[in-house]
Amino acid sequence: MLSSDPIAGVTIDVARRRLVLPDGTRAPFTWLRDRCPCGECRHASGQRLYDPATMPPDLNILDAVLDASDHLTVTWSENNHRSTYRLESLRAAPAPARTAPTLWDAATVVAPVAQYDDITRHPAAMAEWLAGIDRLGFGMLRRVPVADGEVARVAELFGHVRVTNYGRFFDVRSIAEPSNLANTSLGLAAHTDNPYRDPVPSLQLLHCLQSSISGGENLLVDGFQVAAEVRAALPAGFALLSSRPVSFAYLDDTTELRASAPLVELLPDGSVRAVRCNSRSMQPSALPHDDLQADDLTAWYDAYLLFTRLLTEPRLQYRLRLDPGDLFIVDNRRVLHGRTAFAASTAASVGTRHLQGCYADIDGLRSTHAVLGRARDGER
Ligand code: FE2
Repeated sequence: MLSSDPIAGVTIDVARRRLVLPDGTRAPFTWLRDRCPCGECRHASGQRLYDPATMPPDLNILDAVLDASDHLTVTWSENNHRSTYRLESLRAAPAPARTAPTLWDAATVVAPVAQYDDITRHPAAMAEWLAGIDRLGFGMLRRVPVADGEVARVAELFGHVRVTNYGRFFDVRSIAEPSNLANTSLGLAAHTDNPYRDPVPSLQLLHCLQSSISGGENLLVDGFQVAAEVRAALPAGFALLSSRPVSFAYLDDTTELRASAPLVELLPDGSVRAVRCNSRSMQPSALPHDDLQADDLTAWYDAYLLFTRLLTEPRLQYRLRLDPGDLFIVDNRRVLHGRTAFAASTAASVGTRHLQGCYADIDGLRSTHAVLGRARDGER
């Protein structure tokens, strides 16, 4: 039942427990009460003081008045509490949590490339570089000082290092008895790092201290683009890929890491949130017990194998050769990285190619980007 008299353009719909605003939008009582901006309900920091657990189940509106300057004042049945809202503030959508990704292939991508001196001296250059990384899932930095551990200091220019069992940073070079294929001179198919962690590090940085004479070229592939192609080609297989968890594991003398998640993770709106793909650490799935399970596993594999084949397609591989002082950063839940095999020189001098890597998380990067943008917009 609608209250018969619209109050200055606002109608209280008691039956459906909502206010109907002059433009036809609907404000449920609970939603409206929860966002009361008064000093009792909302701290000066912007954080909510009002505890939604205290909201009476039979919450009602006693009065609602819209004044000429579009301020809506509501009197609640709850202790006659009064809330005054700017109509405009009720219409504002929350800021998006992430930049909409721009999918890319090798032919069309314009890599976000910056110079170390520029991003350390000019906030605008840093902001532009970070924006590119957030949009495309990777970026390049040149003329980084060639120094031990510098990779971690670069991560700290815009975020926080994620320390793992590999340390604050780690070396990538061919060694005599490696526990990880990264530390050989073998080529590595494009992969995401550390899928056996929960949560997965969302950023990886790799910094070149010494390059090999031949080979060892790096390649980057947009996993969101690959996921989109698999989805279009094999919709049923993609549905399995994005719902069936896969296990990953890493074991050495002192560490045992295991995690389980679908190869492609989706957001509630169906868009891709993350990919994880690393054949080195993927564990075999359970043996099917019936035809249905076997059919599912076969379809899952068809989609998985298409995913891996697409990773090898030159049209999707952005190739780069790292020289000393070059660094790349990838969104490790989106852009897969790999390398071609390289000459490890002689047994006596293994490890000509020397990179150092570290992990970080994308929330720090997005925060720095947002704060730099805030300063530019003159906000706060
Ligand atoms: Fe890697």
